[in-house]
Amino acid sequence: MHPSSLVYLNGAFMPATEAKVSVLDRGFLFADGVYEVIPVYGGHLFRLEHHLQRLDDSLAGIRLANPLSHEAWRTLLEELVRRNGDGDQSLYLQVTRGVAKRDHAFPAAVEPTVFAMSSPLLEPAEQVRREGVAAITVEDIRWKLCHIKSIALLPNVLLRQHAVEAGAAEAILVRGEQVTEAAASNVFAVLNGIIVTPPKSALLLPGITRDLVVELAREHDLPLREDILLADDLPDADEIWLTSSTREVTAVTRLDGHPVGSGKPGPMWARITELYRAYKARLRAGG
Ligand code: PDD
Repeated sequence: MHPSSLVYLNGAFMPATEAKVSVLDRGFLFADGVYEVIPVYGGHLFRLEHHLQRLDDSLAGIRLANPLSHEAWRTLLEELVRRNGDGDQSLYLQVTRGVAKRDHAFPAAVEPTVFAMSSPLLEPAEQVRREGVAAITVEDIRWKLCHIKSIALLPNVLLRQHAVEAGAAEAILVRGEQVTEAAASNVFAVLNGIIVTPPKSALLLPGITRDLVVELAREHDLPLREDILLADDLPDADEIWLTSSTREVTAVTRLDGHPVGSGKPGPMWARITELYRAYKARLRAGG
């Protein structure tokens, strides 16, 4: 984010450098809050209603009432996009339980802190599209409420850092024998010609990009199953993909130091990427 970009904090727009939050904010002291990341293409917010529904679910998960209606969120976020020059952006919003004397229990009658900012949207680099990325598998050390998009991301931070230090772009997480998701993305694999992604549960974030990929595959008759994905299946996968608002659909071409399939982004990835790009192009054109 550029320091001069405009952010929204508790009812007002201001330059990022002027936005200040109390050290007693429960987001700062307890990571007591939730967030969303929403891509913007050509000034149009990507699947805003889906993001707002997930925000509702996350807030319900931490028992915090949504301080704004969907309509108010839409107005606020569209205004933020406009004030930051439209075009392509990445919106981040965060709601915390507010400012209160430090005590673990919920404070009474405290206003939540509402914050939103815009950053440049960095689409996957050409080299990533051509060659894919490396990933590692690691044990999923997180809690059991991973469907909540909580700002408590320290486990994800540590897991991602593992990947970086292994020369990889992402850490694919394994709980017991099953793949859940990745440090900041969802996981798909192509096994014997069928696209497989773990079903939604409390052990993974229901990614908005994941849902779109599932929808596009179904609409276009690509074989897809929402099913348990075993860590043991990954070494034999034809393809592995990561999906997120920032990665879109990224092919994993090396896993734990070994090539995935041909070692290049595969044909199913090429097909889904084509469908995903067409969806983005329609959004950019305003539809
Ligand atoms: N992260 N799983 C996790 C743990 C994530 O943090 C994310 C996204 C996803 C993909 O969700 P979506 O498709 O809605 O972006 C899955 C965001 C981008 C982040 O933390 O920056």
